[in-house]
Amino acid sequence: MPFRKLFQEKFNLFYIKMLANTLPSIVYILLFLATSNSQSIPEQTNFSTDALATNLGEVESRENGPNLEFRYHDHDELTRYLRAISARYPALTALYSIGKSVQGRDLWVMVVSASPYEHMIGKPDVKYVANIHGNEAVGRELLLHLIQYLVTSYDTDAYVKWLLDNTRVHLMPSMNPDGFAISNEGQCDTIHGRHNARRYDLNRNFPDYFKANTKQPQPETEAVKEWISKIQFVLSGSLHGGALVASYPFDNTPSAIFQSYAHTPSISPDDDVFRHLSLVYSKNHAKMARGVSCKSGSPSFDNGITNGAAWYPLTGGMQDYNYLWHGCMEVTLEISCCKYPPAHELPKYWQDNRQSLIKYLAEVHRGAHGFVMDENANPIERAAIRVKGRDVTYHTTRHGEFWRILLPGKYRLEVTAEGYLPQEVEFIVIDSHPTLLNVTMHSAKGYVQSAQPTKLPAERKAPLKPTPVDPNGAIVFPKD
Ligand SMILES: *[C@@H]1O[C@H](CO)[C@@H](O)[C@H](O)[C@H]1NC(C)=O
Ligand SMILES: *[C@@H]1O[C@H](CO)[C@@H](O)[C@H](O)[C@H]1NC(C)=O
Ligand SMILES: [Zn+2]
Repeated sequence: MPFRKLFQEKFNLFYIKMLANTLPSIVYILLFLATSNSQSIPEQTNFSTDALATNLGEVESRENGPNLEFRYHDHDELTRYLRAISARYPALTALYSIGKSVQGRDLWVMVVSASPYEHMIGKPDVKYVANIHGNEAVGRELLLHLIQYLVTSYDTDAYVKWLLDNTRVHLMPSMNPDGFAISNEGQCDTIHGRHNARRYDLNRNFPDYFKANTKQPQPETEAVKEWISKIQFVLSGSLHGGALVASYPFDNTPSAIFQSYAHTPSISPDDDVFRHLSLVYSKNHAKMARGVSCKSGSPSFDNGITNGAAWYPLTGGMQDYNYLWHGCMEVTLEISCCKYPPAHELPKYWQDNRQSLIKYLAEVHRGAHGFVMDENANPIERAAIRVKGRDVTYHTTRHGEFWRILLPGKYRLEVTAEGYLPQEVEFIVIDSHPTLLNVTMHSAKGYVQSAQPTKLPAERKAPLKPTPVDPNGAIVFPKD
């Protein structure tokens, strides 16, 4: 049989399963109503939260555990707070360190989820990273408040319960604790404390798709790179200060000529999705979407969002790296005009950002997700997933899972895996719930010989190799 015919037949065997009603929120509300009275606050341990609270200078609320004050917490206080929370909420939180800063401070991450210790197969992991610039301090405190809010709302707020039941939320309050340690409250515009202890800007320290990054990799950056290579994060936010805007990929541009001109956008294949994600943050924020400039002379942003390179291009940023190396959509969230405002303003920042911080994470449940399996329903790891017309490759996890955040519409998914016939699957995405898409791959054994290798999309190995730069300035992704 000619290959084409065989291929055609195999091709027709694919199946798509779309669940008409994936986890409708109504079920959760009903579930919540049925169980809310019987669910007590997670079991108390023999851990002395009172003693810790005293150490912390925090007030111990009888019902809610450590009651976080609106003030800045140094590294030791932050550590004690996170430990107190994890001891008080063992069923909802897990505390881990991904490594240490130059000066030996732990890079803490707190997971908040109904399954804090284990990835829930089929459910996404998301993250926030704050304080990558040590003197941009608001995000650091807001993540402590977000932790507090999530753990204390789980039993009383159906939306928070839905989010934590279906998502693992990883929160890193500080990626640059050394920089924070030398930063000063009240300094709005200086760069003192921005860098790590070896004077490297950590948001210029990642491998870059567009240009070779020659900066010496720093321990904080290496720790984050290892972390995001181990956990498939689907959505992420990086919290900064000094502006009020959600800034989305790309941060860098392919052309050296354009580097010198600001205001030239560098458009990613998922521009529509990134704009949407940024708008979710800005529009749920008390002020961001108004797009008012921070002070005279600084830019204003339509709807409070901007393409990163259109604002100013940079090399070695964290958000482009997340997206292009690991298929994690990250947006840079600039949440305060003043980088390190006085502590008495913190309640206002929390009020302004609380809704945004939560709604943004929930966007991970938009689009399509599913499993890539062989004919015996075994998961296929590192299958390459590409949405036609979006020239960026995602990969399946060791459980065969993939996620693709997409706006409503009709799409084609191209799936390739070594030893299997390539597969194309048509699917639709609607607004109200994610599309569940299982893809079965068929062994290429017996067909490979007769195949025309040039007709088959080859698997692309991640990470994507740094750039072929188009001299005309257009973004060129490597073609298969
Ligand atoms: C998709 O595959 C997963 C993993 O094998 C399975 O648990 C799930 O039930 C499947 N869903 C559909 C709709 O086939
Ligand atoms: C509870 O007490 C036991 C026995 O003293 C100890 O091993 C354990 O670490 C304590 N748990 C916590 C969370 O402090
Ligand atoms: Zn910053």
